[in-house]
Amino acid sequence: MFKSDEGAANASSEVASSVQDSVGELPLPPDFVWGAATAAYQIEGGVHQDGKGPSIWDVFSHLEPSHTSGQHGDVACDHYNRVSEDVALLASYGVDVYRFSISWSRVIPLGGRTDAINEKGIGFYNDLIDRLLSYNIKPVATLYHWDLPLELEKRYGGMLNTAEFQADFSRYACLCFSRFGDRVKQWITFNEPYIISIYGHHSGVLAPGHHSSVEPFRVGHSIIVSHAAVVEEYVTGFQKCQQGSISIVMNGDYYEPYDASSEADRAAAQRRMEFYIGWFGDPIYLGADYPASMRNQIGSRLPHFTKSERELLSRTASSNSFYGMNHYTSQYARARTASPAQDDCFGNVDELHINSDGVAIGPLSGVSWLRVTHHQFRKLLCWLWTRYRRPIYITENGCPCPGENTMTVEEAVDDQFRIRYFGLYLDAISRAIYEDGVNISGYYAWSLMDNFEWSAGYGIQFGITHVDFSTFVRTPKKSAYYLRESLKRRKEMGSMIGKVESKTTFH
Ligand code: BGC
Repeated sequence: MFKSDEGAANASSEVASSVQDSVGELPLPPDFVWGAATAAYQIEGGVHQDGKGPSIWDVFSHLEPSHTSGQHGDVACDHYNRVSEDVALLASYGVDVYRFSISWSRVIPLGGRTDAINEKGIGFYNDLIDRLLSYNIKPVATLYHWDLPLELEKRYGGMLNTAEFQADFSRYACLCFSRFGDRVKQWITFNEPYIISIYGHHSGVLAPGHHSSVEPFRVGHSIIVSHAAVVEEYVTGFQKCQQGSISIVMNGDYYEPYDASSEADRAAAQRRMEFYIGWFGDPIYLGADYPASMRNQIGSRLPHFTKSERELLSRTASSNSFYGMNHYTSQYARARTASPAQDDCFGNVDELHINSDGVAIGPLSGVSWLRVTHHQFRKLLCWLWTRYRRPIYITENGCPCPGENTMTVEEAVDDQFRIRYFGLYLDAISRAIYEDGVNISGYYAWSLMDNFEWSAGYGIQFGITHVDFSTFVRTPKKSAYYLRESLKRRKEMGSMIGKVESKTTFH
């Protein structure tokens, strides 16, 4: 996994919260959509096929010594050559929607605004979109899921050059709107700006693998400004005739105070979420500056928005008509007593899985950073709704089962741990909708199939479909059918309740 997998807690000696919770199978609104999500580099393969240009991931996954557990995405799930099989599989799960990402260097091999378009790459996505629609599955496209065209990194340092990046990203986005927007009605500009900034440019565990305490904030700034510019291009040039929506997908854990009786820890938990989510959410959804907590601490490392950038943000804020949220787990935050280190990027907090009473935030999954924390998921939904007031789509959610990486296929498909995780998280959504008044429109399981899990290579499995990476045989896991049946039942129950009014709507 790209998030550190070191220091797995000793699960036997801790008291895990919520171990006893059982799934209530609670209702969901009848128009609630569900589906599965993937990303181009994690599944496509076809790295040299049909004129695709290289991306920073093609280099990063071939570094020596390896940064990706000795593995790469050259072939991945071979989805590039198995689209018809994969879409049929997806349809057999009864999904309403499918979230995939477009590989920028497949459609513009060099990536730049005057570089050539690769019609074969365009054709691949046209075919995927048409197949989805033939099964009545709505395509939802992410423009950027981490695979920057390598040439742009070489030419000007990629996202480190805000103006150049913005211009190239706009041309790429407009190409996608004009070629696919007649059929793609929901657009996501960037997947997880926090991860791109921090893991790509601070810890260096993701491409391009930089270690800096300044770069993350420049990269974050480039993403925010490029996002807003593309939202404006969509709204002014395409939305009227294409009738689609556009926004961004952010991720974020919920933070509980390490010691609930400590005011400092309670403040640390809030501050940590501002450094994680508010960093991007406040400028994008509120048209505001970076959170004051960041301004105060990050100082000159945090760029200032120019006058024209501020105007762009305030013009476009309301056009982000939904909040895309990837969410997996939660943590405890403990305030540090010393003043923040010069290079701190996190709000001067320690992040922990066990609190001051020795209680674990939740049961451990198959990867050390992910614990089952459905109660905190519900709290996060409320936190986001209160702050941003946009209908929420959970654009990724899922987990690997404990020990799944050493299981036979027969064992792996009987994924009871994942089924329970999905059940508890869906219940949390139901409670947030019906009890807390949060507007939540849809849910995507991560992921349609086991795939290239970034720095963990193929060693961690998030799929609802098992993939044998030597034969490419796909075998549905029980969770895929659980989701199909459970969502059907939940929506049937929801149709008997009638329409829910959110506490306050945005517009
Ligand atoms: C990313 C996915 C990744 C998943 C599980 C998300 O942050 O968008 O690409 O596979 O987490 O680690």
